[in-house]
Amino acid sequence: MVIFNEKEKLTPAIVELKNQNKTIGFIPTMGALHEGHMSLVKASKAQNDYTIVSIFVNPTQFNNPEDLEKYPRTEEKDIELLTKNGCDFVYLPTVNDLYATNEVAKKYDFGTIDKVMEGASRPGHFDGVATIVSKLFRAVKPTRAYFGEKDFQQIRIIQEMVKQEGLDVLIMPMPIYRAETGLAFSSRNARLSTQQTDDAPQIYSILSKAVALKNDGKDVAEITKFVENEFANSPFKLEYFEITDENSLETIQHFSDAKNIRGFVVAYA
Ligand code: PAJ
Repeated sequence: MVIFNEKEKLTPAIVELKNQNKTIGFIPTMGALHEGHMSLVKASKAQNDYTIVSIFVNPTQFNNPEDLEKYPRTEEKDIELLTKNGCDFVYLPTVNDLYATNEVAKKYDFGTIDKVMEGASRPGHFDGVATIVSKLFRAVKPTRAYFGEKDFQQIRIIQEMVKQEGLDVLIMPMPIYRAETGLAFSSRNARLSTQQTDDAPQIYSILSKAVALKNDGKDVAEITKFVENEFANSPFKLEYFEITDENSLETIQHFSDAKNIRGFVVAYA
């Protein structure tokens, strides 16, 4: 596995491979890698000639300096895991390789999709995500880029950014990879206590019951009420549960209002 720290070295190496008609699969990450990230690496390896992972804790997408500081950093373990999973290249840039001194996130106009859910509680977060992913796409020039549906709103933002900037890359959304307990793998799980780790699968179980109710023909209001009640009787504090149109991410009143729908939950321990 080859590690690049500078885009001046990385980009020409990729361009050379693309000139030989090789396809490049790309997985942007912030490190603290786990099986969820590896599910994206596996998908990329199956569909491309070469796979590249970037590891970069992007300062412009953190609106809470404490969250940025506390973000887990496990570089050595990450490299070991990527080697084991047959990744070909790693891009491990410094802040200076991607940002000019004092550079801030670009201001995008994403309409409604960056104003709801995570966008409402983390102002500027998605401008930071779009800014860094645009920079990474320009440096890596991937054929396909893989993103997890765990961060579904992020995928919608990146699809819009790619459209607005006319970038030539296929965005590949991938299903949430979960532990057997139902808990989604996440770098931030490292911050949960043993008790919280034991409790967390209840979130998946509540969501699964919500899906079962939908399959039974129940509508949005009834399911929302059910989920709110379940959380009231759980160890978690529900921040929001929303059922939205998958495209606009706007809340729907009835399932008949949208062709493709998706449910989202945020809860605190
Ligand atoms: P990070 O949180 O490291 O996630 C990198 C990618 O892995 C994202 O596309 C995320 O959705 C995916 N991922 C994480 N856990 C997953 C799971 N359990 N199942 C499937 N996919 C999973 O998301 C970011 O980094 C950053 O915002 C980034 C896009 C790199 C920009 O800085």
